[in-house]
Amino acid sequence: MFVWAHRGASGVAPENTLRAFEQAIEAGADGIEFDVHMVEQTPIVIHDAWLQKTTNGLGLVRQATLAQIQALDAGDGQTVPTVRETLAMIRGRCQVNLELKAANCAMVVAAEVRYAIEQGWFGPEQIIVSSFNHKQLHIFAKQMPNIRVGALTANLPVDNAAFALDLNAWSLHCNRDFVDQALVDDAHEKGLKVYVYTVNHIEDIDYMVSLRVDGIFTDYPARAIQYLQVKTN
Ligand code: G3P
Ligand code: MG
Repeated sequence: MFVWAHRGASGVAPENTLRAFEQAIEAGADGIEFDVHMVEQTPIVIHDAWLQKTTNGLGLVRQATLAQIQALDAGDGQTVPTVRETLAMIRGRCQVNLELKAANCAMVVAAEVRYAIEQGWFGPEQIIVSSFNHKQLHIFAKQMPNIRVGALTANLPVDNAAFALDLNAWSLHCNRDFVDQALVDDAHEKGLKVYVYTVNHIEDIDYMVSLRVDGIFTDYPARAIQYLQVKTN
């Protein structure tokens, strides 16, 4: 079972910060998922479109300046990192899943991913770009056809995993509340990996194992890894 640290080890450190990413790596996570918004054409790592959810700032991310956002506290003295700082820090020590949140960030994220690969920080197979915004995914994939795409859905599509094939996706990223055996089986028949968010409780991990999903996104990677090791031995 592939363990993605959801927003880093966000159960034990401020979400989407370098500390949360470092703790995810220390926990032995297979990959780190983080969320991407954009300010002044620079992709940054934050979940909400609004600053007040996770920082001491106020207002919309896209209406601030990069300098204003970098001066904010994202929890315990951590700052809001840029995508470049994040990729430079993780530097191939585990896989990464960039989740595009901003409606217009596909092009700038493609440039950052290209830069990270050129720097030798990651191999192309270590990166997945996902989004609920399938139009953004389509734009990204046109720029970077060799990078894996994760088709995100919060719902249970009536035709199961078919939409992910339309996106030429590598993986299907689906919601714990809706995933079922038919969706998992259909995705596997189509050659897709299945990763489920957000799986924090032991009962949910057991359920995901029983569904034979390929991986989970969890806020507590250390706990999940430890439990899975015991369970599978
Ligand atoms: O990428 C999986 C998951 O992070 C999607 O939901 O709201 O936690 O970004 P959210
Ligand atoms: Mg996310």
